[in-house]
Amino acid sequence: MINNDLQRLVEIAHKKEKLVIGLMSGTSLDGLDIALCQIIGHGMNTQLQVLQFASIPYEPEFRNEIQSIFSVRMVDLEKLCLLHAEIANLHARYINSCLQKWKIAASEVDLIASHGQTIYHAPKHLHGLPGYGNASLQIGDGDHIAVVTGIITISDFRQKHLAMGAEGAPLAVYGDQILFGKTGERRVLLNIGGIANFTFLPGNDEEAILCTDLGPGNTMMDACMRMHYPGQYYDNNAAVAKAGNVNEDLLLDLQSNKFFSAPYPKTTGPELFSLPYLQSAQKKTGTEDISPADCMATLNKFTANMIVKGIREGINDTSNLTIICSGGGVHNPLLMENLENEMKECRFQHATELGIDPDAKEAVLFALLANECISGNAEFIKEGIPGIPATAMGKISFPH
Ligand SMILES: Nc1ncnc2c1ncn2[C@@H]1O[C@H](COP(=O)(O)OP(=O)(O)O)[C@@H](O)[C@H]1O
Ligand SMILES: [Mg+2]
Repeated sequence: MINNDLQRLVEIAHKKEKLVIGLMSGTSLDGLDIALCQIIGHGMNTQLQVLQFASIPYEPEFRNEIQSIFSVRMVDLEKLCLLHAEIANLHARYINSCLQKWKIAASEVDLIASHGQTIYHAPKHLHGLPGYGNASLQIGDGDHIAVVTGIITISDFRQKHLAMGAEGAPLAVYGDQILFGKTGERRVLLNIGGIANFTFLPGNDEEAILCTDLGPGNTMMDACMRMHYPGQYYDNNAAVAKAGNVNEDLLLDLQSNKFFSAPYPKTTGPELFSLPYLQSAQKKTGTEDISPADCMATLNKFTANMIVKGIREGINDTSNLTIICSGGGVHNPLLMENLENEMKECRFQHATELGIDPDAKEAVLFALLANECISGNAEFIKEGIPGIPATAMGKISFPH
């Protein structure tokens, strides 16, 4: 006797070709990214095609609900408990309506790969509490998604990474290697979500792979926009920042945090890079009264500078480097201009040029992780690289 869903999972694991839905909802709290992927094979022999992609924005009320328990130390515990189920139910309903629109039956989909909603990220270097290690919490329970969609769901990927001694992030490197690691080209995969991270794929045996967070992506700019322009969640096309001037005093102070000089690999979150971070820098430099536009121009430059500094510190020689950009930050023209101006020696590309929608990339990476969870072992990951345990990740939820 074997559990029916377990039997089905074994059959799925052996399928030549799978349909996997990858989900991503990052620290920007902008909504849920849903990528329907066709996956053939596993490990470095994986072939992946994105068949459908949708980004479903959260309603403002729901965003506020999540915000109320997000990245702050004191929260309404009942709200957290309720949202653990409700985020999952909402994500499942989004999936069901996408499938209906795409005219695909749930029974045709083999797996859902659910990242969940990060509500707190606590690497040891941030919490500093003796006796405690690295921790991170994503909510949106996988069992609920499995039951509401009828599809086997793999979720909560980060806990295994933490259990193996790493910081639970960034996980991008596992998928980046599969998707982008096959050539002899020296590549950086730069993802600018709420937080910015990068994977360095040397494409040669002399240099080591590296994957780390860099600091804020959109998170500080978004926080500043939300404060000055209630109801506006981000600086659309950098219209506000473009109208302002960089304040050099504020810029220097923002750049002085010890996170930026800590060794690699490292991770961070909006627990550190938040409105209080900005406000304290403004207070220290007496720049509380600068205009919102100047503030946004400064934050935009700060974000770009720290990305550039981080990449330069991680990679000895940045000449002959292709930087492949993804995440919502690619839609911020001033941020991209600031980056490209500071790294003129590099070739910048959008992930689109390599066949992946920059907004879909993270969701696609989780689809790949789910595939490894049941059909691989992440055996293509070299043992012993700091922050990149050679392991499959994810927890399995059955619908029945
Ligand atoms: N047109 C745009 N102009 C400026 N910024 C944008 C634009 N579109 C998206 N963004 C930025 O991208 C963010 C969402 O990026 P995303 O990659 O989804 O992050 P996360 O993974 O944290 O959810 C938004 O909060 C916003 O800051
Ligand atoms: Mg997002």
